Amino acid sequence: MTKWNEGRVVENKQWTSTLHSLRVDAPIEKFEAGQFTRLALDIEGEEVSRPFSLVNAPDEQPLDFYFIAVPGGLLSTKLATLKAGDTIKVAPKAAGLLTLKQLPAAKKLFLLATGTGIGPFLSIIKTVEVWQQFERITLVHAVRYMEELAYQQVIRHVAETHSHQFSYIPMVSREACDYAISGRIPAAIMDNKLEIRAGSRIDEDSHVMLCGNPDMVQDTMAVLLQRGLKKHSRREPGHISIEKYW
Ligand SMILES: Cc1cc2nc3c(=O)[nH]c(=O)nc-3n(C[C@H](O)[C@H](O)[C@H](O)COP(=O)(O)OP(=O)(O)OC[C@H]3O[C@@H](n4cnc5c(N)ncnc54)[C@H](O)[C@@H]3O)c2cc1C
Ligand SMILES: NC(=O)c1ccc[n+]([C@@H]2O[C@H](COP(=O)([O-])OP(=O)(O)OC[C@H]3O[C@@H](n4cnc5c(N)ncnc54)[C@H](OP(=O)(O)O)[C@@H]3O)[C@@H](O)[C@H]2O)c1
Repeated sequence: MTKWNEGRVVENKQWTSTLHSLRVDAPIEKFEAGQFTRLALDIEGEEVSRPFSLVNAPDEQPLDFYFIAVPGGLLSTKLATLKAGDTIKVAPKAAGLLTLKQLPAAKKLFLLATGTGIGPFLSIIKTVEVWQQFERITLVHAVRYMEELAYQQVIRHVAETHSHQFSYIPMVSREACDYAISGRIPAAIMDNKLEIRAGSRIDEDSHVMLCGNPDMVQDTMAVLLQRGLKKHSRREPGHISIEKYW
């Protein structure tokens, strides 16, 4: 049985018709950037809970959750209706292995996300440690439409602070966009567009973190394995760490 803390919604920021950031004031135990916790609501007499990544850095409050109201989704459609002042259950203990501590030594870090999968990477790039651990960091955010390229202010701030170490690459798959790479992540690796734009090669000196759509995770991993990179685990160090959102 999960033990819950009561959280209070500070803001429900709506980015598009389906994308939201829920800012919640709630106590949480010390966590690592990249981890997730669980959120729950009582819906028609039943407690419904799901995991959500923490977008805020470990030393920041309020807690920040970036989510999509999945059409027909039981919990996410209810989260979308919350307003400032509403209460929500928040699990006090975060979990997850998509964190810096889990990574072997490497020079370059590639953070590749689709949709709301950018959440844990935003938490990671807000930390001091990641800039000490890696020489070069590339954040790729792949979405369907331009308006889904959220958190531009946070990304711009990081880019200004770490201009020599950081590349941000937006990707848009379903409309023309002159500043984004068009199409999907695996194709952009295969035809070298992603690395040319990053100014950095994905090689054995790299660690690649993948988060979001499970098909993207699977297809990208297949391309990286073909290149000779290996999946990372505690027992067998490699180059690829993953988190599938569904
Ligand atoms: C470790 C972990 C961390 C997660 N962090 C986040 C997060 O930070 N933000 C977030 O929006 N979701 C996140 N998810 C997904 C989230 O837990 C729920 O599955 C999602 O909110 C749907 O719940 P629901 O009750 O509304 O839908 P359900 O009625 O349970 O329907 C589930 C279906 O929704 C779709 N779906 C689930 N998650 C997503 C998603 N993120 N984007 C697109 N389609 C999706 C899939 O088709 C899935 O089969 C995470 C999942 C995991 C495993
Ligand atoms: N975003 C919306 O406007 C919207 C609206 C209504 C419903 N939904 C529902 O919400 C859910 C998630 O939507 P989302 O937009 O966050 O996420 P998504 O469907 O995961 O799309 C995000 C990005 O991932 C890409 N992608 C999908 N499969 C891939 C693969 N195998 N390899 C590499 N890249 C891949 C998509 O490219 P492609 O465009 O080429 O697929 C897109 O660029 C879906 O279940 C969807 O039905 C979304």
